[in-house]
Amino acid sequence: MSVRRILLGVTGGVAAYKSAELVRLWIKAGHEVTVVMSEAACRFVTPLTFQALSGRPVYTTLWDDRPQNGMAHIDLSRAADVFVIAPATADCLARLAQGRCDDLITTLAAARTCPLVVAPAMNRQMWENPPNLRNVRQLIEDGVTVFGPGTGSQACGETGPGRMLEPEEIAERLEGFFTPKRLAGKRVLLTAGPTFEPIDAVRGITNTSSGKMGYALARACRDAGAQVTLVSGPTGMPAPVEVSRIDVQTAQDMHHAVLSQVVNADIFIGVAAVADYHVVNKSEQKLKKTGKAPVIELAENPDILATVASLPAAPFCVGFAAESHNLLDFAEAKRRRKNVPLLVANLAQQAMGADANEVTLLDDAGIHPLPVMGKDAVAHAIVRHLASLIETSTIPSERTTE
Ligand code: PMT
Repeated sequence: MSVRRILLGVTGGVAAYKSAELVRLWIKAGHEVTVVMSEAACRFVTPLTFQALSGRPVYTTLWDDRPQNGMAHIDLSRAADVFVIAPATADCLARLAQGRCDDLITTLAAARTCPLVVAPAMNRQMWENPPNLRNVRQLIEDGVTVFGPGTGSQACGETGPGRMLEPEEIAERLEGFFTPKRLAGKRVLLTAGPTFEPIDAVRGITNTSSGKMGYALARACRDAGAQVTLVSGPTGMPAPVEVSRIDVQTAQDMHHAVLSQVVNADIFIGVAAVADYHVVNKSEQKLKKTGKAPVIELAENPDILATVASLPAAPFCVGFAAESHNLLDFAEAKRRRKNVPLLVANLAQQAMGADANEVTLLDDAGIHPLPVMGKDAVAHAIVRHLASLIETSTIPSERTTE
């Protein structure tokens, strides 16, 4: 993920406290954040909070003489890759729609050369007020991107549309905003997480896959413009925004879910750590101790990736290989056996459950090692490689829905 220079405008709404968390998330992701605040925003949160979180001076007035030439109203947005106003009040949206320049935030918006994103936050009646909706339509027509608002309970005690999106969702949407749309028009089907094969009513066979790698890939494909369906084993992770998720438990459930969706897929990515076996003699009740160890009888599960890759109209298939040793030899043998054009190899003991991963991509052209990176960055690198393969592939990757 590239480092972005983000200019954050905070206007006066209760949601201003959430913007502090937004700054924390962006800084954690490695971005540079400069904050500008309206006078009203300073009544909700102090500039000092944003200064501490961003590690940079906070600007609150047009008359700030800290920028070298005294041109804060121009320089701050010229130095940014994006200007995000969150929360954006109804008053701020109205002034932006009119092109007014009566405070630092609106002046920076008018003088900017970078994209402008607004995350509205207001009471539901203020949101639905026709002049407000007219202002929002005007801003969209002017090329401004609007994130949200969300629907739910509001600080005033009412419920409805107008809540500022949660900081995590704004941060996620901004990553997507910057990603080139190399998978636009493609439908991606992914599996992620572990499977759970019951032994009795409460026990089962599973593994330590957290779902982090698969969910990161789902987000990266979405950010690249794809329509994404994620078939997920039990992970406890929230569904990524704008990704359709099907929850499953066992390998057989996952197999059924994938086969029911694959006709709609241009690309299939098998990230899940699918159990190779299920318990044939599982008990519907919790097993009691009898003084004799129970015998667990296993039978092989279907290989989901191999099944999809062998379909007559197979989508472009990407497999993963988690090996404990002999990584590249075993991974290449797996790629050939399962007949997939792209395989991502990683060491099981390092990759499972971790936040970072070191992967090697294997395709017909050879071996492409990637450095150790956070799983989101690994996922974006895999998507870039996948997009290049599809762009140069003779395999038809566009399918029509029957
Ligand atoms: O979830 P995390 O904690 O982030 O960890 C990520 C990961 C380690 C699980 C991931 O990076 C990974 O390596 N996933 C594949 C794990 C695995 O089961 O590898 P495998 O070598 O056993 O399987 C090879 C391929 O066949 C995989 O694409 C797998 O999804 C698929 N498979 C395997 C068995 C089966 N019955 N059906 C399958 O589709």
